Parts: sequence; structure tokens; C-alpha cells
Amino acid sequence: MIKQAIIPLAGLGTRLLPLTSVFAKELLPMNGKPGIEYIIEECIDAGIKEIVFIISKKKEMIKDYFYKDKFYQNIIKKKKDPRILNEYKKILKYRKMIKFVYQNKPLGTGDAVLRTRKYIKDKFFLMLLPDDLIIKKNCSKSMIKVHNRYKSSVMASMNVSKKTVSRWGIFKTKKKLNKKNFLIDAVIEKPSIKEAPSNKAVIGRYILPKKIFLKLKGQKKGKGGEIHITDTIQSLINEKEKFIGHSFSGKYLDCGTMKGYINSSKEISKL
Ligand code: G1P
Repeated sequence: MIKQAIIPLAGLGTRLLPLTSVFAKELLPMNGKPGIEYIIEECIDAGIKEIVFIISKKKEMIKDYFYKDKFYQNIIKKKKDPRILNEYKKILKYRKMIKFVYQNKPLGTGDAVLRTRKYIKDKFFLMLLPDDLIIKKNCSKSMIKVHNRYKSSVMASMNVSKKTVSRWGIFKTKKKLNKKNFLIDAVIEKPSIKEAPSNKAVIGRYILPKKIFLKLKGQKKGKGGEIHITDTIQSLINEKEKFIGHSFSGKYLDCGTMKGYINSSKEISKL
């Protein structure tokens, strides 16, 4: 069973400037709720019991959001507003599940994952990238089902237009397992159109094996001087570790760019 999730939250969010000059992008509201709460809800609904947040000193605002007890308690004492009380209860419920670790240098997703190693207990865990929202169908839940069936690692996949392959991790597929799932032969981080083996992109939901930590320790920097989880996944695949690509059914929303963020808010308000 997958019971633990990790969420890298140390990214600077430069694509969302000027909003992110003072604000953590994951706390930006979408239809009255910070983006991160949609991700937490997805986890809870998928049966996750513990979430490790990877933040940085610059993003301590995220921790503060869950630790404003005095503030809430004072207000609740003065104003008997049931809405505020409910919001506070919700924050407390979330907080019980969350642990915080720090990644103070922007060294990439692989480095972020490595920071969580002392907390991961089971053989597999879930990772969610907060820039990627998937609405209408719980992608993590569907991926956990796939994992339970095949006992393997799973990554979310979406077909993208060939022109945009250099923006994503791209899969080389090996064999179709059924309508929604395929075996992964290779995964390449942000290839050129020429290099790209398909138009199937990695979207930010991963079920990863605990053994990835051993590989991550020796992982060299890749594109852009960062440690990419994609490269570590590739070295596991080279050692015959099974990875399945899952073409999810929900609707993908990109919250990491200004245009995407504006559109995501619109889409969510229609739900
Ligand atoms: C990251 C991953 C990439 C994946 C993408 C999904 O890239 O490195 O493989 O396709 O998330 O959103 P980033 O968005 O951090 O550039």
C-alpha cells in the first residue's frame, strides 16, 4: 500500500513573477483556496496518511500557513464564526499529516527527493509536483490502483504536441499493457524535437521505489546543472526496474506559469 507522499516545494516560481516576489506560488489562491490544498486533498482522497513537504528557508511561509494557532485561536475566541472555525480545523487536520524537510539550494527534483529519505518507510511512495494540478479524476488514486496491480513504479503520462516536447520529460514506450498503461523503455528530460522518442510527456505524479535513494546519492547533475529525478529513474530502468506510464483520465492544469495559473483558476471555478 502507498501511504506516504512527498511534495517538492522549494522552487522559486520565477515563471510567476511578480506574484512570487513576496508569495510562495503554492499558496496562491485558486477559487478561494491555495493551490497546495488541492494537492493535499488529492493525497487524502487517494489514501495517503503522511506527506513530506520539501521547503526552503525562502519558502517558510508555507510552514507558517499551517502553524498560525495563536492567530486563529484569538479570532475564534472573539468572533464565533463557524466558517473560520472550520478552516482552522481543516488546517489542523492537514498539519497532523505533514512533515517538513529543507532544500535550501535549487539543485533540482532529484535533490529534493533525496532530502526525504529518512522519512520514507515503505517500499514505494508517491511524489506530486505542485505545479501540476489534475482535476475531475484523482490521478494519484488511479496510479495507486495500477501500482497495486503490477507491483511496480508508475508515472503519469499525457500526450503533448510534438512542438512542446522540450518542456517535458518524454517517454520512450516499450509495450502497451492496456488502454491506459504502458511499459516504459526510457525517459528523457526535456529532449529536442529530434531527440524525442514520442510525444508522451511525464506529468508530475510519480510512484517511486525506496531504492531510488541509493541511486540518488551518486546521481550527477544533468541538464541545466540540476539533479533530475528523470535521470535517476533512467538508471533504475537500465537495471531492469519496471516503470509503468499511466495515461490519466483527469484534466491537466499547469499552474507553474502565469498564463497557466490564470487559466487554472478559471477552470477550477467552473467545477
Ligand atoms: C518537471 C520534470 C519533467 C516533467 C514536468 C511536468 O519539469 O522534470 O520531467 O515533465 O515536471 O510538469 P519542470 O516543470 O520542473 O521543468
